[in-house]
Amino acid sequence: MSLPFDLRPHPSPRSAAERAAVLADPGFGVHFTDHMALATWTAADGWHDSGVVPYGPFTLDPATAVLHYAQEIFEGLKAYRHADGSVWLFRPDQNAARLARSARRMALPELSQEDFLASIDALVAADEAWVPEGARSAAQESEQSLYLRPFMFASESFLGVRAARRVTYCAIASPAGPYFASGVHPVRIWITTTYNRSGPGGTGAAKTGGNYAASLLAQAEAAEKGFDQVMFTDAVERRWVEELGGMNVYLVTADNELVTPALSGTILEGVTRDSILTLASEFGLTPVERQVALDEMLEGIDSGHVTEVFACGTAAVITPIGLLADEAGEHKVSAGVTGEVTAAIRKNMLDVQYGRAEDTHGWMRRS
Ligand code: COI
Repeated sequence: MSLPFDLRPHPSPRSAAERAAVLADPGFGVHFTDHMALATWTAADGWHDSGVVPYGPFTLDPATAVLHYAQEIFEGLKAYRHADGSVWLFRPDQNAARLARSARRMALPELSQEDFLASIDALVAADEAWVPEGARSAAQESEQSLYLRPFMFASESFLGVRAARRVTYCAIASPAGPYFASGVHPVRIWITTTYNRSGPGGTGAAKTGGNYAASLLAQAEAAEKGFDQVMFTDAVERRWVEELGGMNVYLVTADNELVTPALSGTILEGVTRDSILTLASEFGLTPVERQVALDEMLEGIDSGHVTEVFACGTAAVITPIGLLADEAGEHKVSAGVTGEVTAAIRKNMLDVQYGRAEDTHGWMRRS
């Protein structure tokens, strides 16, 4: 039986003026809408007690299991406003499927695709006024969207180490501009071979907070050195390119290949990553998923065989990489500017998301 996500209206939603002030400069992940979707799971009763309620803090017992053992997963997807005012989601079925895979890995209960989509639709409907103007606006705000963050965590108060018997599912929404505060410019990447975000048999393919926590020290050290993001290699040989702290990575080669590290179980299966593999042939490129050696990548950049490098993810969309560096030195990509292929794929992806290009793959779902 499907879960109802009925709206329990907010007694004091923010005014249109307060909303307009936020939407004028939303940043990323800073502001939140008036409501959130909630559901509870218990081992005895399964999923129940669902609804869309006023946005607000949780009251957590200090012994709540997630605070101790990090049994937690999340998703990220966006709602886009098209020129006619309608609101659309990009491949939300993929987020539902990945949430279910992450749940299995983290010994959490699965939420059905139907319930996941119902929770997102109900939240977006309740907070429709918070979806930025998107394709309806002037160029400056045209890349704004409503970032949706569904998540699930062990909410049982218990200090024994086992899968929780009480779990909370929640989805919140946040009006969002570009992920990088500098906007869409080529970013500088520090390559760490000191730290790893995941290893074989670990949780690297699950979208779970621990992977992101594991990236933070490396990210902080990269920032101290003046870099925007950190790139990780595999944990065994420290030889193969994996991903950035929260984004997948792609290379464009002089022989028209679009190359990304193969899913090894330690890499997040990005929805944007997957969509780009599908789009490649439309740009005359051959999509290639394989192991990419760090040496090969850096030598290719220096020789000109690797013509462009970019990062991708829901939050970052497609972000050009202008420079990679490690202890041995710097490697400048595409003369430090946004490459043509990167710009073209990025534009195409955004055009589909904002309804400016035909959705030939059936990726968009009206919310
Ligand atoms: C996303 O792209 O949605 C992510 O989850 C990356 C990051 C913001 C955690």
